[in-house]
Amino acid sequence: MAEHTGSGEALPFSEVYYPSREAYLEYYRKSVEDIESFWSERARELEWYKTWDVVLDRSKAPFYRWFVGGETNINLNALDRWVGTSVFDKVAYYWEGEPGDTRVVTYRDLYREVNRLAWALKEIVGVKEGDTVTIYLPMIPELPATMLAVTRIGAIHSVVFSGFSPQALADRIVDAKARVLITADGFYRRGRVIKLKEQADQAVVLAAEQGVKVERVIVVKRAGIEVPWSEGRDVWYHDLIKEAPERAYVKPVPRKSDDVLFILYTSGTTGKPKGIMHSVGGYPVYVYNVFKWNWDPRPGDIYWCAADIGWITGHTYIVYGPLMHGVSQVMYEGAPDYPDPGRIWSMIEKYGVTTFYTSPTLLRLLRKYGDQWVEKHDLSSLRILGTVGEPINPEVWKWYYEKVGGKRAPIVDTWWQTETGAAMISPAPGISLVPLKPGSATYPLPGIVADVLRPDGTPARPGEKGLLVIKEPWPGMLMGIWGDPERYIKTYWARFSRPEEGVWIYYPADYAVKDEDGYFWLLGRADEVLNVAGHRLGTIELEDAILTHPAVSEAAVVGAPDPVKGQVPVAVVVLREGYEPSDELERELKETVRKLIGPIAVPAKVLFVKKLPKTRSGKIMRRILIALLEGKPIGDTSTLEDPAAVEEVSRAVEEFKRLMKSS
Ligand code: PRX
Repeated sequence: MAEHTGSGEALPFSEVYYPSREAYLEYYRKSVEDIESFWSERARELEWYKTWDVVLDRSKAPFYRWFVGGETNINLNALDRWVGTSVFDKVAYYWEGEPGDTRVVTYRDLYREVNRLAWALKEIVGVKEGDTVTIYLPMIPELPATMLAVTRIGAIHSVVFSGFSPQALADRIVDAKARVLITADGFYRRGRVIKLKEQADQAVVLAAEQGVKVERVIVVKRAGIEVPWSEGRDVWYHDLIKEAPERAYVKPVPRKSDDVLFILYTSGTTGKPKGIMHSVGGYPVYVYNVFKWNWDPRPGDIYWCAADIGWITGHTYIVYGPLMHGVSQVMYEGAPDYPDPGRIWSMIEKYGVTTFYTSPTLLRLLRKYGDQWVEKHDLSSLRILGTVGEPINPEVWKWYYEKVGGKRAPIVDTWWQTETGAAMISPAPGISLVPLKPGSATYPLPGIVADVLRPDGTPARPGEKGLLVIKEPWPGMLMGIWGDPERYIKTYWARFSRPEEGVWIYYPADYAVKDEDGYFWLLGRADEVLNVAGHRLGTIELEDAILTHPAVSEAAVVGAPDPVKGQVPVAVVVLREGYEPSDELERELKETVRKLIGPIAVPAKVLFVKKLPKTRSGKIMRRILIALLEGKPIGDTSTLEDPAAVEEVSRAVEEFKRLMKSS
């Protein structure tokens, strides 16, 4: 895990100094004096069919609604606004496949493709306004095109990361009640072809078992492999597009600001993933502005966000944000260290990337490979560097700043979540940059009111670790959880709000420290959610998966610190009578998780024990497991039912650590 000072002391980094704290804080102070007028001003930079009557409707809080009465379509701002401007012939995506094949897609190309696909989805496939469409695609240009075509006709997309398993895809299809699925034959990863269509087919069967029938499967040809085919249900993407007139134009359907723009599933503290809903009006306003503040986009920029569109980072920072600014991007299909650890650096040099945005996990991995890989390449085009997804260790921050950015490019550490739509706490070089402290995301962005509270709801002192909260709504906020309004209130608003006083406080479930200078240091999740390589995984989801195995009687999954991935899942398992621990069984349990969730969730280790540490009332004391894995004192054990359980787990953990060290 990140080694945070969290103490508020600026590290001795005199060269990291962008001396406009006062300018920033002045702008910030004004922005939060009256958030309604601030955001209303900001929203005017976008295209609307009809402007709003009310900036922010607080009457049904915490179901806040932004720009009520307004009508728009995100295509107006991401695509149609470029027609007839110089941006239209600019490159939208320099795409590179893992094997090295390339494609160049201009804004004009994208506009044509989106219109034709929108036409076909509407006229041939019969997708209607308000329908949900599930998208299970790899990192190819058809992915942004599909998202835009779906939103263009007023439908709702639910993108599922292509690394998820058929079961995970099926669960998301069922929850969203999607009758159309868009996928690909396959794609490249580490030199292998992943057979995506086969996985999609399995998901369709599993979804049908749960009562949701996928009627059409649209398949993009990427890998050119043989695929199983279901006549009448399956259709090739390129055949479908051909049906549309070459110059097809589909008017972007006017949608209400408080309609759902898209759903994106993320993990929480129960077994069932949450369908986070983002809005037609608020999301684009927030994303447009934050993108500008984060990256200070300029006409000649080549921007690269090395995330996957299957996560929120890709939705906001590869699709909607950059397109709304007419930016040229690099988009890459494959593994970041394939065929060698220099892939990323060589692509930055090749395309002259100016703005690069990635995760601390990737930086830790690339740093481990050694500086020679970086030094081989001319990275002098880089102007701004960003990170997201996890706390960044100060040492890695410094390496990124010095080795990669040559001390010229500020590090924009962006704290945010699937639920927040775009960055919330981060430097804002697009406005004016405050002095940076390695490991701190600096200040809240304009219009964002953030604080750190103690568990009892009183404000934490400077330097005191507490819980992060957001005290005022913002336009990029989630509208709710698809089909589960109660869970929305319980998860995000129950912890600190005082409804009887009309006070609603958003609770992200992150630990944080605010230092003497008011800088925020984000310290990781405060709930039962793991952050593995920047990806959110619910421990209960993993436990549920492991418990499906007939040998397992009880399971507890916790995060163990990992030098590259931040955290890795470790499963502590009690077997049923008649089963014995074995390597074979460990493999089976890992395979079960791979099948039910996907490769990212596979535990690094399964520890077999006879008893889990529990309270007298039978609740598993994860806190003890976590402390043992982190090598910290286990704290108060007065509620522990049987101390022998701790000794046993402790021995297993020591064994695990020895194994990790030697591997
Ligand atoms: O714990 C925080 C961590 O990632 C969580 C959100 O995960 P997800 O919804 O998957 O979105 C990731 C990409 C936006 C947060 O609750 N997190 C995200 N960014 C940072 C971070 N932790 C520390 N520093 C960050 N910059």
